[in-house]
Amino acid sequence: MSKQAANDSVQFQTRFHQRQQAIRYRDRFRPGGKREQMHHKEVAILRNLLAKAGTLEVAMDLPAGTGRLTPILAEFASRVILADASDVMLEIAKEDNPTLPATFLVTSAEKIDLPTGAVDLLFCHRFLHHINQPELRQRIFCEMARVSRRYVIVSYYAAGFRSRIKWRLKNLLGLAGRDSKPATREQFFAEATSAGLKVAAQETLRKVPLGMFCLFEKTK
Ligand SMILES: C[S@@+](CC[C@H](N)C(=O)[O-])C[C@H]1O[C@@H](n2cnc3c(N)ncnc32)[C@H](O)[C@@H]1O
Repeated sequence: MSKQAANDSVQFQTRFHQRQQAIRYRDRFRPGGKREQMHHKEVAILRNLLAKAGTLEVAMDLPAGTGRLTPILAEFASRVILADASDVMLEIAKEDNPTLPATFLVTSAEKIDLPTGAVDLLFCHRFLHHINQPELRQRIFCEMARVSRRYVIVSYYAAGFRSRIKWRLKNLLGLAGRDSKPATREQFFAEATSAGLKVAAQETLRKVPLGMFCLFEKTK
């Protein structure tokens, strides 16, 4: 992996290493939080997509964060794996989900610490759109397709006004890599295809800027 791609990943990871930051993130989606309504929408849409995949033995939430959506995976799978680069996020996930049939794994999405075909479905939400390096995104897609034997659900978010400004600023300051740019929808699907994934279903989370969940099936 290039140094710039590695930096992109490290910069995003550092936002979630302090307990206070982790709790602040979690609470935004809780009752009374700024994103409570969006949380309910995500739950409903995720359930629809999981129903299409049917019954599963093992489902993985990567990055699981504080595990706010893992209970939905557990409605369809006998066991769940909550994986994240931050042990702090996983610590809170464990406290918040004491009765889940779950294992917890500290790992990075670019090199998932599990064998090939270890799970039936891998769910990846609110993550890939933070990775602006195409090389790194492609690597993460390939890792997800390697570890899942059947399905991958990934969220795509088009860059909104604020992310574009942030990215431009980083560019001006020389902090973004040469190829760094938020992924277009076309790029996102092309990267999934080249990792051996084909679209089985999609659902819209928000219209502008576009946010969606995609259920992919493995092609190889
Ligand atoms: C925005 S949160 C999303 C968490 C969860 N999917 C949700 O929707 O609530 C992003 C998570 O990605 C994790 N993360 C960041 N970089 C990572 C990486 N390279 N590999 C694995 N996890 C990573 C962070 O620790 C954080 O928990």
